[in-house]
Amino acid sequence: MTIMTNDEEIVGTRPAHRRVKLGVRKVSKTFRIRSEDGKTQTHLNVLRDISFDVEENEIVSLIGESGCGKTTLLRIVQGLMRHDAGAIEVDGHAVSGPGRDRGFVFQQASLLPWRTAQSNVEFGLEIQGVDPKIRAERAKQLLRLVGLDQAATRYPHELSGGMQQRIGLARAMAIDPSILLMDEPFSALDAQTREVLQRELLRIQADAKTTILFVTHDLDEAIYLSNRIVVLGARPGRVKEIIDVPFAGERPDLPVLRGSPEFQEIRQHIWQLIGNQSMPAHT
Ligand SMILES: Nc1ncnc2c1ncn2[C@@H]1O[C@H](COP(=O)(O)OP(=O)(O)OP(=O)(O)O)[C@@H](O)[C@H]1O
Ligand SMILES: [Mg+2]
Repeated sequence: MTIMTNDEEIVGTRPAHRRVKLGVRKVSKTFRIRSEDGKTQTHLNVLRDISFDVEENEIVSLIGESGCGKTTLLRIVQGLMRHDAGAIEVDGHAVSGPGRDRGFVFQQASLLPWRTAQSNVEFGLEIQGVDPKIRAERAKQLLRLVGLDQAATRYPHELSGGMQQRIGLARAMAIDPSILLMDEPFSALDAQTREVLQRELLRIQADAKTTILFVTHDLDEAIYLSNRIVVLGARPGRVKEIIDVPFAGERPDLPVLRGSPEFQEIRQHIWQLIGNQSMPAHT
């Protein structure tokens, strides 16, 4: 296991053979909030000097306790929230707003209830003015990719939570983003559906060669999916450590992986970093 602290030159210590797709460079963010009596304003320093790279075709997970700024950071990368300092770079160029190069998958699928599954997947392409025939074809192809081609004409309320998340993923993939930002996309699902979708995500990611920044609370999920894990500390959110996951690329299924001593070692390490006292046995 390779561990680097925030104080080391993170970029410089990694092998240079892969291209950096997404660069987060010393990003800081402070919110102005009302004080408890509502009369004055105080400052909430949420993120301070966050720096890490996501290389091409890599999955990097952000993990850290609730409120440490994971969603805030993802929104900043997405370009929908402004940061106070630092830079977000895509392919080496600073970006300052949203773009087609970055797709977003939310914790809840947030599909449009009046549109069918296919029409939800087509939504982004429609906004871009893509020809109806072409976008229908693309949507069908993506529905196949997420295993839901049989459900194209169904409405969101006729789909299970797991199916809705798949549609959310297909919708994000439809605009062919080179970077996918995923904010706890599977956390509302039961353990079994979650494991199925984790496997699917790895398959789809390998197929589409997408670079993914993935937020999760779930240690096992982070270790299973990621090439690297960025552990954030809270108040303000700072990079505590960046952990290289050694078995990325040749991952056996999660239940098998859980049995390996290396997996348990990393799990224990992250658990301690996040500040919990004792680690519960996995159920
Ligand atoms: N628009 C906002 N205005 C003011 N404060 C905000 C705003 N958005 C988030 N915050 C605050 O910033 C902190 C970080 O929030 P954020 O949603 O990024 O945390 P998180 O790490 O995603 O937490 P969780 O794991 O619970 O999803 C919280 O204290 C939150 O209350
Ligand atoms: Mg969040």
